[in-house]
Amino acid sequence: PPPMSILEVGGVPLPISSNEIWDKISKFEARPDDLILATYPKSGTTWMQEILDMIQNEGDVEKCKRAISLDRHPFIELTFPFKKKYDFEMALEMPSPRLLKTHLPSHLIPPSVWRQNCKIIYVARNAKDCLVSYYHYHRMTTLLPDPKSLEEFCQKFMSGEVAYGSWYDHVKGWWAAKDKHQILYLFYEDVKKDPKRETEKILKFLEKDIPEELLNKIICYTSFDVMKQNPVANYTALPTSIMDHPISPFMRKGMPGDGKSFFTVAQNEEFDKDYQKKMAGSTLTFHTEI
Ligand code: A3P
Repeated sequence: PPPMSILEVGGVPLPISSNEIWDKISKFEARPDDLILATYPKSGTTWMQEILDMIQNEGDVEKCKRAISLDRHPFIELTFPFKKKYDFEMALEMPSPRLLKTHLPSHLIPPSVWRQNCKIIYVARNAKDCLVSYYHYHRMTTLLPDPKSLEEFCQKFMSGEVAYGSWYDHVKGWWAAKDKHQILYLFYEDVKKDPKRETEKILKFLEKDIPEELLNKIICYTSFDVMKQNPVANYTALPTSIMDHPISPFMRKGMPGDGKSFFTVAQNEEFDKDYQKKMAGSTLTFHTEI
C-alpha cells in the first residue's frame, strides 16, 4: 500500500486523506457510553487496548480475539489506504458500548466527544522512549515515510514534523484538558511498574468492580511477554506489505528508559535542553528522567 497521505489540520500533520473526510471526522457523533483511548503514537496504545478489552469482556479471551486489533477498536480519525471502510464509518455500525481509539491532540477531538461527556483514558509515555519507538515503527511500516537516520528523525520529532505533530503539545494539551473533562491521565511507565495498581485506577474510573482472580488474569494476559506471542495483539496478522516485523517487531522492547541509550551524549544534551524549553510552564512531569 502507499504511505498514508498526510493532511495539515490546524497546523498538525494528520494521516487523513482529504479535507472532506476531515470534515466528516470532526462531525463524528460520539455516544455517551463510548470509552475513548487517547495517546500519542507509540505510547502503549495497543497495550491499553488489551487491558480495556479484557475489562470490557470480563476476561473472556475468545471474545477479545474477535478480530485483529485494527478493526475491533477503530480510530476516530484514521483513513488507512488499505482498508475498505474508514474507521469512523466502522464505528458508526458498532454496537454500544464502543471502545474507540484516537491519536488526535485534544484540540482536534470531534466536539461531540466533549458534548457527550465521554470517558477518556489518556496514556502518556516519556519523550525519548516514544521517539525511539516511533523511529523503529517508521522503519517497519510502509504506511509511514522512511525515517532515514535516527538523527534526522529526532530533528523532525523535536519540531513536530511527524504524523500527529508535536509530542510536547500533545501530552501538555491532554494534561490541561483533564481538568475540564472526564479524563484519566495515565503514564506508560506507571503501568509497567505496577500494572495492578494502574488497572485498579482504571476500574475505579469505569466504576467497575471485578474479582481479584480476574484482575490477575488481565495483568498476566496483557504482560509484554504474553502479548508478544499473541497474533491478535502484536499485529503479525497484518500482511508484511504493511508491517514488516523482521525489520523491527511491533512489540519491540517495551522497556522504560531504553530510548536515551540510542542517543550520543551530545544528542542527549541537545534534546534535554530543547525539552526543558518546550515543557517549561507545565505542571506535567514524567518519572523517567529524560
Ligand atoms: P517499544 O517500541 O518501545 O517496544 P503503541 O501501541 O502505542 O503503538 O505502542 C507500542 C509500544 O508499546 C512498543 O514500544 C511496544 O513494545 C509497547 N508495548 C506493547 N505492549 C506492551 C506491554 N504489554 N507492555 C509493555 N510495553 C508494551
